Amino acid sequence: MPRLIPVEVIPNSLWSKEDFTLYLPPQLISSWVKLLEKYDLKDKAMTPNYQGFEGGISQEDTDNHLAWRFTGSSARVMLAVLDPLQNLFEIPNEFARFFSGNKVFLADLPCGSGAASLSILSIFCELRKKGIVPRTPIHIVIIGGEISIFAQKYAKEVLDYLINELAEQAITIEVNIIDWNVCDKISNTQLVENLKLTSQNCSKKLLFIANFSGFLEGENKWEEANNQFEQLFQYSENTNIMILWIEPKTNKVINNNGFFPRLVKWFRKTFSQFIGKNKEMEDKQYAQDRVKVQHPLVEKSIFKTNLAVKKFYLPKKE
Ligand SMILES: C[S@@+](CC[C@H](N)C(=O)[O-])C[C@H]1O[C@@H](n2cnc3c(N)ncnc32)[C@H](O)[C@@H]1O
Repeated sequence: MPRLIPVEVIPNSLWSKEDFTLYLPPQLISSWVKLLEKYDLKDKAMTPNYQGFEGGISQEDTDNHLAWRFTGSSARVMLAVLDPLQNLFEIPNEFARFFSGNKVFLADLPCGSGAASLSILSIFCELRKKGIVPRTPIHIVIIGGEISIFAQKYAKEVLDYLINELAEQAITIEVNIIDWNVCDKISNTQLVENLKLTSQNCSKKLLFIANFSGFLEGENKWEEANNQFEQLFQYSENTNIMILWIEPKTNKVINNNGFFPRLVKWFRKTFSQFIGKNKEMEDKQYAQDRVKVQHPLVEKSIFKTNLAVKKFYLPKKE
């Protein structure tokens, strides 16, 4: 399938074809900076970050993530959406198709401080502004699930800052950030009920899981969480929802016995009745990529982002 948004038309404001560098969308930067300024975190965001920082759910960890990791998370999502080096097969087309609906649904899990949703929305806002994609009215229903109350607050606020810019490009959003603990059955059931209800009349549906392996691998949480993932993935059965899971391309994620190969194995075993009936399910590969990114606050400061991305799809039953 040819690219729905060819690399040649990606505007310079997002991708420099001369030096192969990604630029975070201006709309994303201004929303993020407003939040940093409100909470007095801008200076921190401009200082070199602490390399070993893994994140967490406290106020301090959430602040550090917002200052030091938000841009990395956003850039990773951006790499998946635009795929400027053309290494990700159908992945960029999934986002382009998603944005061609008139009422669509996005589940952002765990949403953290909102980097993934903000990134996806800002990219399409910029593409519309530059006349690359049509400005057909679109309404996006977003559910963000997250355990940290501090991150939940930041996610609400940062997405709120984007509303006017989006409206100018005929994009309206409805955001619902939900308290969600992937290790807790009741909390997950509530999330799934909410997803079912809110996604009902949406023509396109995307369940986006980003940057979760650190936590799931960290304290062996996968064992506690995998039943809830089964429930979440089951919800996607019969609903034509696309699941995209992205992670940093680290050895822990892509090695033979790394997170992604084990995740794919789990998926194939758990949903084995679907496999074999559908060719797409046989695709056990995941795509990977790496690119340079301009730091939005520090001139001439370039960082690298990399990603591994896997698409899961449980087809509608006949
Ligand atoms: C590395 S951040 C990624 C956030 C976001 N997806 C992004 O790309 O910026 C991991 C997130 O997982 C959240 N988290 C940790 N344990 C969780 C749990 N048991 N249930 C739901 N979210 C959890 C953390 O609070 C944190 O916001």
